[in-house]
Amino acid sequence: MSSFRPRIYCADAFADLEGLITERCAAIITDPPYSERTHKGSSALTTIPYASISHAQAEEIGRTFARVCVGWVCVFCDHTMIDTWSRALASSRRYVFAPIACVTIGRTVRIRGDGPASWTDYLIVSRHRTKEFSQWGALPGAYVGTRGTAPASERERQAGDKSDALMAAIVRDYTRPGDLVVDPFAGSGTTGAASVSLRRRFLGLEIDPDRARTSDRRIGDFYDSMSWLYPETKRYG
Ligand SMILES: C[S@@+](CC[C@H](N)C(=O)[O-])C[C@H]1O[C@@H](n2cnc3c(N)ncnc32)[C@H](O)[C@@H]1O
Repeated sequence: MSSFRPRIYCADAFADLEGLITERCAAIITDPPYSERTHKGSSALTTIPYASISHAQAEEIGRTFARVCVGWVCVFCDHTMIDTWSRALASSRRYVFAPIACVTIGRTVRIRGDGPASWTDYLIVSRHRTKEFSQWGALPGAYVGTRGTAPASERERQAGDKSDALMAAIVRDYTRPGDLVVDPFAGSGTTGAASVSLRRRFLGLEIDPDRARTSDRRIGDFYDSMSWLYPETKRYG
């Protein structure tokens, strides 16, 4: 990546990630598909429009994340995959922390059957055992958000996408201005938008061509609208 301009490539994280990272990857912050159990369990009202991920796939790509990233790796998952992601992210001599609950007050994922069910996403975070990443203060015990009313940009989103506020909190906690943040499962580009707004550089991969095109355009336009405000960010190019 030779310029600061954020990009979301239409690419397969499993096949293309290592080839697309051509400079120091300070952080991987990503929200891959969840387990088959979660995908099958979503109601007709919240059908997830992409395939689930297997434990073997999570293990494989988690090891790749641990190898290619110099700083924090932060991966969302459901409760059934906590152990798999934790094991994979502990490779390459990394330290893995206790899962961080990400709770959205008022959110329910099931409105039929035996009643509304609450839902908690988990964030698995890991870092190398080096000084550079060991003195960043305390990790939060949880990320708590509220449902609220979705602004126009949020209404375009798909089931499974994260809120702007949550992704901004995570980008702020695990990266610094000027860092290159990579999201190999970029979806609607929420990690990218948070990274741009906080003056981090961004590289994303998304396998769905329509989503990749739309999200790439969205974060590019967002970057253009932000760059008059922070002209000095150009120096990262
Ligand atoms: C949970 S969504 C990400 C949502 C994102 N965090 C957001 O809030 O906008 C997971 C995304 O991963 C994409 N995906 C699935 N398999 C992929 C692969 N092998 N390579 C890249 N992207 C993939 C899906 O198409 C989907 O858009």
